[in-house]
Amino acid sequence: MIRLAIQAKGRLNEESTEILTESGLTFEKSKRKLLTRCEDFPLEILYLRDDDIPGAVEMGVADIGIVGLNEVVEKAADVEIIHKLGFGKCRLSLAIPKSETYEGVASFNGKRVATSYPVILKDFFYSKGVSAQIHKIAGSVEVAPSVGMADAIFDIVSTGGTLITNGLKEVEKVFLSEAVLIVNKEIDNEKRTLVNQLISRFEAVERSKGMKYLLMNIPLSMVDDAAILIPGMRSPTILPLAQPGWCSMHVVVNENQLWPKLESLKAIGAEGILVLSLDKMMP
Ligand code: PRP
Repeated sequence: MIRLAIQAKGRLNEESTEILTESGLTFEKSKRKLLTRCEDFPLEILYLRDDDIPGAVEMGVADIGIVGLNEVVEKAADVEIIHKLGFGKCRLSLAIPKSETYEGVASFNGKRVATSYPVILKDFFYSKGVSAQIHKIAGSVEVAPSVGMADAIFDIVSTGGTLITNGLKEVEKVFLSEAVLIVNKEIDNEKRTLVNQLISRFEAVERSKGMKYLLMNIPLSMVDDAAILIPGMRSPTILPLAQPGWCSMHVVVNENQLWPKLESLKAIGAEGILVLSLDKMMP
């Protein structure tokens, strides 16, 4: 049995729950039950505040956790970052009132900066030789300049909507973050095996994102040309049709190359093209 800590509420909760569900794990999703058991995998899910997750994994209260890289670095947690999950992408940025002119990072010298991430900000200022006053606040950081609490802020930016709404502009992108899977460094081999199984399920889900399954009928004489256009994972699957001289070709393609490929395939004689969604892909 392993215990996984995920965010109880907030920006990573939904996507964390989604990747677990897409990985075939069934569990109760009540917002009130803070420790729940998976029905079909030896896994317990512990719901925590995101900034408590790195410490919980470091202490072994949870064996693994899904949390933003920003929280892991801010807490300087002694955990293993074992897998990047590709969701929850955001950045930690410095922002100032939009009416002000930005004159480079040296302009933060002597300024008061409000943030929930003082460790990352202190490191950044140190690396740039800036001496500023860092005020740690737990939330509502973007309001600090307009109420006279600070001259600037350092906080999470995702869409940038919160900055705009609060009359601020982003002037320095300091730290890029995304959700990561972290692991306690002292878990035993049995738990490590379960963690690896979980990662392999996550990878199967991640691999299928943006991929489509393509089926078409094509003259046998055009198979080599089509295989150049759509080589697939190893090579396309070719199945005979009842009609001589024709076959059915099946292949996995990346969605962002789909339309040009479909047009080229039609141009070389492909017919009856079907594009299907994919749920999971194991290598
Ligand atoms: C974060 C952050 C900003 C906001 C930025 O808050 O503190 O306020 O997101 O997002 P945007 O660029 O898309 O507007 P979050 O919603 O994570 O809640 P928090 O107060 O718990 O940090």
